[in-house]
Amino acid sequence: MTAKIMDGKSLAEEILADLQKKISQLPVAPHLAIILAGDDDSSLIYVRNKQKAAEKIGMQTTLFHLPENVSQEEVLNIVDHCNNDEKINGIIVQLPLPKHLNSNLIINSINPQKDVDGFHPYNTGLLQNNEKPYFVAATPLGIMTLIKQVCPDLSGKNVVLIGASLIVGRPLATLLLNQECTVTVTHIHTLNIRELTQKADILVAACGVSKLVKKDWIKPGAILIDVGINRENGKVCGDIDFADIVEKAGAVTPVPGGVGPMTVAMLLHNTFQAYLLQHNL
Ligand code: GUN
Repeated sequence: MTAKIMDGKSLAEEILADLQKKISQLPVAPHLAIILAGDDDSSLIYVRNKQKAAEKIGMQTTLFHLPENVSQEEVLNIVDHCNNDEKINGIIVQLPLPKHLNSNLIINSINPQKDVDGFHPYNTGLLQNNEKPYFVAATPLGIMTLIKQVCPDLSGKNVVLIGASLIVGRPLATLLLNQECTVTVTHIHTLNIRELTQKADILVAACGVSKLVKKDWIKPGAILIDVGINRENGKVCGDIDFADIVEKAGAVTPVPGGVGPMTVAMLLHNTFQAYLLQHNL
């Protein structure tokens, strides 16, 4: 058996083309504010990708690129400005922030109705209660869309996540639980992790360790989602050893071209939704 390759790039392009069409019918372009502190290489690439994709579909972005040593107060002032600017529909604070800044405090200061990353406790709390938040985090939303393509009925599926981050693991665990999956969230302190991953119908790797998942980690026919974007000898690779698992898995997302493009598409989907929400549409 050779695994089906789950083409996130093409699916993201379809979603973006649909958004472009809808945006062209609006009187004003939806507007995303991006707050970036410092010059982390990966963050600069991610932010550039988000801006480029937004531009391509007719969405406006404003980048607040702040120096590494920006004060907490200055960041909070910019969030406050974006909260009160009616022309701005969505706000994201690119993570990770420099260590001296309190990420929780900054995220908690975003208006939940503009929180297109879905990180505000109001939105994560509603998701946790299986109610409808204004926004769900983009990467988990993209992953759910990819999984549904190969596994439309998730009820009763055994899912194992590697990584318990605010950005991926935690919201994704909740989305899957809300879809009646049995979810195991593993992390750096988990013992005998392979014994858990070997039982997974669906395995999601979001830990940032190059090629961690090998064929002896997985169940035959499993659906594998690779969230890793690691750089090894100038090449990008995921958290899953693609070449090692490709003959054993049922389906796998490639890196690049899997989860990454879906994250961008879902962020812009959320920003479009924010525009509709704020215009009572
Ligand atoms: N850093 C890595 N992924 C993300 C994301 O989806 N949103 C934000 N704000 N920061 C990130």
